[in-house]
Amino acid sequence: MKARFPWFAVTQRGVSATILLSALAVAAVVAVALTALLVNIFERKQEAKVTTTRLVEVTRDTTDPAKWGVNWPKQYDAYKLTAQATRTRFGGHGGSEALPQQKIDKDPWLKRMFLGYAFSIDYRDRRGHAFMLQDQENTQRQTKPQTGSCLHCHASIMPLYRELGGGDAMKGFEQTYKIAYKDLNKKLHDMGHGQPVSCPDCHDPKTMQLIVTRPAFLVGIQKLAASETPTPFAPSIERWRAAGRKVAYDPNVEATRGEMRTFVCAQCHIEYYCSSAMPLTAPWGKGLNVDQIEVFWNETRMPDGGRFLDYKHAETGAPILKAQHPEFELWSQGVHARSGVACADCHMPYARDGATKVSDHWVRSPLLNISRACQGCHKLSEDEIKARVDLIQTRNFELMQRGGAAITALMDAVVAAKKDGATDQQLATALELQRKAQWRLDFIAAENSMGFHAPQEAARVLGEALDYARQGELAALRRGPAPAAKVAEAASVTGVVPTAASGKR
Ligand code: HEC
Ligand code: HEC
Ligand code: HEC
Ligand code: HEC
Ligand code: HEC
Repeated sequence: MKARFPWFAVTQRGVSATILLSALAVAAVVAVALTALLVNIFERKQEAKVTTTRLVEVTRDTTDPAKWGVNWPKQYDAYKLTAQATRTRFGGHGGSEALPQQKIDKDPWLKRMFLGYAFSIDYRDRRGHAFMLQDQENTQRQTKPQTGSCLHCHASIMPLYRELGGGDAMKGFEQTYKIAYKDLNKKLHDMGHGQPVSCPDCHDPKTMQLIVTRPAFLVGIQKLAASETPTPFAPSIERWRAAGRKVAYDPNVEATRGEMRTFVCAQCHIEYYCSSAMPLTAPWGKGLNVDQIEVFWNETRMPDGGRFLDYKHAETGAPILKAQHPEFELWSQGVHARSGVACADCHMPYARDGATKVSDHWVRSPLLNISRACQGCHKLSEDEIKARVDLIQTRNFELMQRGGAAITALMDAVVAAKKDGATDQQLATALELQRKAQWRLDFIAAENSMGFHAPQEAARVLGEALDYARQGELAALRRGPAPAAKVAEAASVTGVVPTAASGKR
């Protein structure tokens, strides 16, 4: 008895019963608190376990996100929210819930730049991932024949690529540019994969780790790795180079988790060439900035050996390069990329949910979610962060509008000169400058962050666009026989193009 309950022994030695009782009470409180804590820890561990317990099996061919949603309901519920309309000053979409606003109505200079191309018929604000397939099916750009390559970024298409390639997705992909959009899309729906981007496009179904699946991305990033251009935004490429470039760079093997949090998005949010003339191409063989991509395109030949272009401008005849949403490319030039901040850090920020972290699968503008998207790193008030973004975007917007006025003036000058009887040869310099100016202006206009992803780089690109556009206007105004050397220089990428004025000095 004494040994088991020592406090009785103490009592027997004469310690007051009051002290004894208080000690007992404290011990009881501590015990209750400890138990509560243990129960809480146990529950959280259980929660964490439940989210990884599979209720249904999923494979890489399970493109229906609802099936994955049985296992991972939180991610699935958020993913479904991409069907909600979102709107910020420059992000999300204007127009109605049924149809986003036309960009070419908002900025008429865009429509004018695209004359001769399907983008002058219908080019709208983007919206959430839930709409990607239906918006592509319904765009008026489909009134022109489109290629099966379009589906690469608008559907959960990997099972179809594997089917076409006899199990080899890359082989299947390589055939699809020759297949008409309508035919390939029908096959996609017939196979039951008529889905927007879905879980197996970014996740390994066995481990749930991030993976990249898109063939055009894989080929493009391999070419980037194989080049000599520095890639501070992707250290794994530099490590792979230092290790001797033994086998082709494979992001699924080499890239860090942080890099994958960008690469999954770079499967689609990139500049590309897409037509029935050649496979879908990501132009990264020289590097990711606007000038390097221009060199890549200038060195590319059409299958018939002709000069590379997306279309001939209907009014001027200039051989135009059309830029497409280069989010990955512009991001790569900014301070966030250099600091290792990935797309998902801002567009899919974590939220704590009991013991687990859940990445927000409602992919949308970070300005709708500043506390989680930015304030984890920037200890500033929400208003201050908003104001800083707004300042960057307003400056970019205003410079871009000046670019729009300048490219319009160039086109006006060429059209007037043509009316006046100017020959193609006399206008050759002006048309080369239209190509260069428009490529830069479109690069920033088609990019969807209104300059935010790399503000200084965006300003540099717009500055060059303005300069080339005004030089082109001058060249059209002061037309004269264009010396061959001048045309060649205008077509080169790095050289400063001499104006007629500088030639006189
Ligand atoms: C440091 C944070 C940050 C990073 C990193 C980042 N973004 Fe953004 N992104 C933004 C902000 C801020 C905007 C402007 C949103 C607005 O205007 O509402 C934006 C806009 C966008 C938009 C248009 C959004 C809309 O609502 O219309 C897209 C698409 C986009 N980013 C894709 C990407 C991709 C792809 C990457 C990676 C290659 C990336 N972003 C990296 C912060 C970021
Ligand atoms: C490399 C990936 C990729 C390919 C290939 C691609 N798209 Fe897209 N598309 C995107 C991304 C990313 C967006 C959202 C960003 C934006 O709208 O700028 C988008 C937006 C759109 C939109 C909505 C906004 C708009 O432009 O009106 C339509 C419609 C569209 N694409 C049609 C097409 C068609 C038609 C093709 C084939 C000629 C095509 N896409 C090929 C990635 C791609
Ligand atoms: C399979 C191609 C694909 C992938 C992968 C992809 N996107 Fe998109 N994204 C699109 C297309 C296409 C649209 C435009 C859909 C439309 O307008 O109908 C879009 C739209 C968006 C928007 C605009 C949303 C809105 O509400 O206006 C944002 C932001 C965005 N994507 C960011 C990302 C980020 C961040 C990632 C990576 C985590 C990513 N996307 C991965 C193709 C893709
Ligand atoms: C466009 C790419 C993309 C798509 C599509 C996508 N995810 Fe994710 N998912 C991510 C990213 C990025 C992360 C963060 C991973 C990391 O940091 O390691 C993530 C993380 C996760 C995680 C780990 C826990 C967490 O939330 O961070 C789960 C589980 C998950 N996703 C489930 C899903 C399910 C289910 C779907 C389909 C409904 C889906 N994902 C679709 C990009 C995607
Ligand atoms: C993971 C951390 C991280 C996140 C998330 C993040 N940032 Fe940053 N941000 C940085 C770092 C690092 C720098 C560079 C600062 C330096 O080196 O002085 C930076 C720089 C900036 C700058 C100044 C540079 C420039 O590009 O003009 C702005 C503005 C900015 N961030 C805004 C934002 C906004 C808005 C968000 C949310 C949408 C955000 N950041 C999210 C880490 C982050």
